[in-house]
Amino acid sequence: MVVARDYECFAEARDGLKGRIGFVPTMGALHEGHLSLIRRAKEENDHVIVSIFVNPTQFLEGEDLDKYPRREEADRKICELAGVDLLYLPTTDQIYEEDELCIGAPKRRGYILEGARRPGHFDGMLQVVMKLLNLSRADRAYFGKKDAQQLVLIRQMVRNYFMKVQIVPCEIIRDADGLALSSRNLYLSPEERRRALSLSRSLKRAAKLIQSGQHRSEVIRAAMRGILEPEVTELEYVAIVDRDFRPLEEVELGNTIILVAAKVGETRLIDNLWV
Ligand code: PAF
Repeated sequence: MVVARDYECFAEARDGLKGRIGFVPTMGALHEGHLSLIRRAKEENDHVIVSIFVNPTQFLEGEDLDKYPRREEADRKICELAGVDLLYLPTTDQIYEEDELCIGAPKRRGYILEGARRPGHFDGMLQVVMKLLNLSRADRAYFGKKDAQQLVLIRQMVRNYFMKVQIVPCEIIRDADGLALSSRNLYLSPEERRRALSLSRSLKRAAKLIQSGQHRSEVIRAAMRGILEPEVTELEYVAIVDRDFRPLEEVELGNTIILVAAKVGETRLIDNLWV
């Protein structure tokens, strides 16, 4: 595995990779969720590139940029063992200059739900993903469905900017008890972790209701709130939208995403279910 810290080293190693390239951009603190993306990228391509970059422009003032877990040694080993060909660990000044040309998230999809709670987050995220996709020149790039709105916006960017890369959505990976894997789970105390299970439990309840024929969003959301409210510190939203992020009054099978965001203690968590 080549480990590249600067652009020249990365570009040279990238030029040496022939055939189909799969790319997994990450912010590190790699867990089984990231590994599932890497494994899939390995299966479907000749070479795999992983980037680890805690992108400052997608964190808002007062968010967890400084305390975001950084585990470079462990991440490196994980990538090596997973058969990654090229690991890119750029510094911030390799990626950004002082007076940047910016791209902006779309006015509607980019400023509801996560975008309303974290205005500007998606601008920074799209900015860095555009750069990383261009740098990697990948044929396919792999993103988890856990960040559902991120995934939808990246697909829109690829469409709107006529980029050639194929965006591959990957299933959410959960612990045995249902908690969706996230690097931010590391912040949770054992007690908070127990309370955080209410997110996946509320989604399971939604799935049960839908299976039993209940399709009204209002009823499903009320049942979810009943599970979440006693457990979480702050319930930010429970939303039922179509795959284009328009609110739905009735669940449409095959075209619905049910999303939840909540704070447990100081930790902000999101989870969702595609139905
Ligand atoms: O999902 C993430 O880890 C990040 O938002 C991404 C896509 C690596 C961009 O910084």
